[in-house]
Amino acid sequence: MKKFIFVISFLFIGIVTYILITKPIEVKKIQVNDFKSNLENGRHIFLASGCNSCHISEGSENKLLLAGGQKFVTNFGTFFAPNISTSEIHGIGSWNFSDFYYSIKFGQSPSGKNYFPAFPYNSYQHMNDKDIYDLWTYWKTLPSDETPSQVHDLVFPFNVRRNIGIWKILFMKDKYFDQTIDQSTYLVEALGHCAECHTPRNYLGGLKKSEWMRGGMNPGGKGKIPSIHPSDLKWTKDEIMEYLSSGFTPDYDMVGGKMASVVENISQLSDLDRELIADYLLRIE
Ligand code: HEC
Ligand code: HEC
Repeated sequence: MKKFIFVISFLFIGIVTYILITKPIEVKKIQVNDFKSNLENGRHIFLASGCNSCHISEGSENKLLLAGGQKFVTNFGTFFAPNISTSEIHGIGSWNFSDFYYSIKFGQSPSGKNYFPAFPYNSYQHMNDKDIYDLWTYWKTLPSDETPSQVHDLVFPFNVRRNIGIWKILFMKDKYFDQTIDQSTYLVEALGHCAECHTPRNYLGGLKKSEWMRGGMNPGGKGKIPSIHPSDLKWTKDEIMEYLSSGFTPDYDMVGGKMASVVENISQLSDLDRELIADYLLRIE
């Protein structure tokens, strides 16, 4: 009997703890009165953070039509990027700014569900509020599309959104944007989310910080993503900047795979932005 009570209490504590630690965060309405929207900056954030790399449909020529449908094969199953166009039915056209803000900053949906970290909010959480607001006003100018989003094909227990609450506690440590972060780090870590592809992950899908940018698994399925750690890459600053603007490597190979759309976006930023990104890559320890 004693043993039975012990097991029941243990289970009970376990369940209560699970419910508490995985409960959605409280949503506060974001005050936008202080912000004056800047469309040009919104476009800059859109390009630097590469929303279209994942959210346009496979092979689409229209880089502004966020119809979704691209698939990402991982150890946990296959994710499909959803339609995030301005369509009110199939996209997120019915959302308000707070909905948008919480999805990017906390990976939480308007109904309080966790998003899977295949949506790189673990990087985007470092975006500052004004930039998210400008991105939002820019997003509103984009076209709508009526393609329904596809359902992810994941294995248990990774398909349970609630469990992502545990992932967030383990891997989403630095919740708030550090205002003292330099522009170089901001471009690479918050916006460009370069580490989400270039850093290897542990078996729970968390980034291995000790192997920062030393090459990762390809979310497209085949092959590996190269290391861009300076001890492996060995490119000069000019060579990195050239690659990010024209797509040419120092041996005149052309950028391919998932990196092609990253370069297509980054090539539309300023020389200074590319220089800041190169500076970051050269100083990784
Ligand atoms: C690496 C690929 C990738 C990139 C880059 C990306 N997303 Fe996503 N996004 C996803 C995936 C996959 C999901 C689905 C997550 C889920 O279902 O939990 C998603 C979900 C979303 C959702 C939730 C949609 C819904 O219907 O609830 C929003 C909003 C969103 N992304 C906005 C953005 C914005 C804005 C950007 C750029 C700042 C961006 N995404 C960049 C892959 C990506
Ligand atoms: C969606 C995944 C993804 C993201 C995000 C990404 N990369 Fe890449 N990157 C790749 C892949 C894949 C390649 C290999 C390209 C090829 O095979 O041509 C690559 C190649 C590179 C290379 C050339 C490496 C070599 O040895 O040829 C550099 C430099 C690079 N990326 C820098 C960056 C920077 C800087 C960022 C952030 C602004 C970034 N990447 C974001 C996937 C990504």
